[in-house]
Amino acid sequence: MVISGAIRMQNVQKIFESEGYENVRALDRVSVTMAAGSFVSIVGASGCGKTTLLRLIAGLERPSGGNIFVDDKEVAGPHHERGLVFQQAKLFPWLNLHENIAFGLRARGLYEQERGIVGELIDLVGLTGFEKAYPHHLSGGMQQRAALARALANRPKVLLMDEPLGALDSLTREVMQDELLNIWQSRGTTMVMVTHDVEEAVYLSEKILVMTPTNSRIEKIVDVAMAYPRVRESQEFRRIKEQIMQVLNIKSRFQAAE
Ligand SMILES: Nc1ncnc2c1ncn2[C@@H]1O[C@H](COP(=O)(O)OP(=O)(O)O)[C@@H](O)[C@H]1O
Ligand SMILES: [Mg+2]
Repeated sequence: MVISGAIRMQNVQKIFESEGYENVRALDRVSVTMAAGSFVSIVGASGCGKTTLLRLIAGLERPSGGNIFVDDKEVAGPHHERGLVFQQAKLFPWLNLHENIAFGLRARGLYEQERGIVGELIDLVGLTGFEKAYPHHLSGGMQQRAALARALANRPKVLLMDEPLGALDSLTREVMQDELLNIWQSRGTTMVMVTHDVEEAVYLSEKILVMTPTNSRIEKIVDVAMAYPRVRESQEFRRIKEQIMQVLNIKSRFQAAE
């Protein structure tokens, strides 16, 4: 397995300008590196720029300043080597599960040569037997598994996920967290996940970027060295979670006082 998909952001700024409104500084001089094949999470309150950061790496937005590189190639726009998964699965309702997952390959004319990967991924995300099912017959968790498989069918180096488990109930969510670990460990893809849930970030990530809305920057980078699978009740787990909560809370108290 060749590990690639290293991400480097250098002094990245994003300012949204719209006529008649004040400019919004969504990101201010963000510099961070994400190692090839690592699992990185971004946590922070609503509006602190998490989605913007992800969309910049995806190439869906251009930075107002600074540079973003993936394996030393500057990001110039969307590319199939950077896959995306959202909170809603957004499957095509008129296609069955197999067709949904094969969609990207078909669109790129690669289905005949790459068709084997579709079954492989359906197996990996635990949906064997549901190949012919249509999205409305699948539960929320199953739809999200399908969305992950669809993104992985393009063999992305980087998988960008914006609150991928945010719409699921807490039990399904924990099962899916293990699913994400399984996917990551078996495919070696660089995983970048936005989440509101600090515990989820600590359970999954090697690196956590903590953002606060006060200055549109990364407030703190926490490296988590614990082995997998992680035990939520362990002292080290709680310590790291508490450390992150403190960065988030202290900042929000500052804001309230202003
Ligand atoms: N297309 C846009 N035009 C104008 N402002 C935007 C746009 N997208 C995001 N913003 C603003 O940028 C800031 C960061 O947004 P976002 O990245 O969506 O935050 P988060 O995902 O952390 O909730 C917010 O103030 C938001 O209103
Ligand atoms: Mg968001």
